[in-house]
Amino acid sequence: MQQQFAHLSDPHLTTLEKVGYGQLMSKRLLGYISWRRKRRHEHSPEVLAALSRDLVDYQCEQLIVTGDLTHIGLPDEFHQALAWLQALGSPQQVALVPGNHDATVKAPRQSTLSLWDDYLASDENSTGQVFPSLRIRGQLAFIGLSSACPSPPLMACGTLDKQQLDRLPEMLRSAREQGLFRIVYVHHSPIPGTEKWRKRMTNAKALQAIIKTHGAELMLHGHGHRGYSREIETLWGSVPVLAVPSASALGLYGADVAHYNRFAVEKTAVGWQLEVQSRGYSIETGEFSAQQNQTLQLARV
Ligand SMILES: [Fe+2]
Ligand SMILES: [Fe+2]
Repeated sequence: MQQQFAHLSDPHLTTLEKVGYGQLMSKRLLGYISWRRKRRHEHSPEVLAALSRDLVDYQCEQLIVTGDLTHIGLPDEFHQALAWLQALGSPQQVALVPGNHDATVKAPRQSTLSLWDDYLASDENSTGQVFPSLRIRGQLAFIGLSSACPSPPLMACGTLDKQQLDRLPEMLRSAREQGLFRIVYVHHSPIPGTEKWRKRMTNAKALQAIIKTHGAELMLHGHGHRGYSREIETLWGSVPVLAVPSASALGLYGADVAHYNRFAVEKTAVGWQLEVQSRGYSIETGEFSAQQNQTLQLARV
């Protein structure tokens, strides 16, 4: 039986048009200036509208969103993003983890992240506060990690807290023993040295060590606003690590134009077959279309 899912990231969908300077403490002020100068031109509502059109007839088990829905994590942005999520799909269809922009400064959870709880939640945890999250759909296990935390001005780092690093091994082991295809998704790159120092996941080495020992079938992330494909070798076989660009980007300042990925998974005699279709936005047509197809055979011991 083939099952499908999709991954998008970094929509940065909010507008700061009505923000007053009184709301802009320290790091938020820098983020606001960055939005005024560049980001409001780079992240386009028209691109996100085209993305919605492209997803209308696409049937999938889960639509994974790996964070950075906002620019500076203001409560009003969380409301704007909730409306966008609700238009994208139900909390049962859309699986979310936050990004560093969604945690620009330390803020009361009640007026920020808790608005997204239904989308952050596991199958058996409706609070959305506990990571790793776990959703199982047929033979697919979706495991969400949160690397979002405030960092000093001009830094865009992420960190997985100890609770997640402690819980992840057992979650991976249990899903493997159930014969599930394990998709681990997180905002920051899980491979040390693949991002600029100021944009890194500070404990990516610890995460990579867990993956090497316990395996996974696929890792997905965003944050860099660039699409690429890497691998982690594990005791159980190699794990593709795929990054997508921002889902709303026009590519005006050196980052990639908006893309997202669709996946189809099927069990084989020796492991899994994973089909990946990269769909990109065309500035000429104003629509998304298939850009690249690849089929990966993942042998598993
Ligand atoms: Fe981003
Ligand atoms: Fe980010």
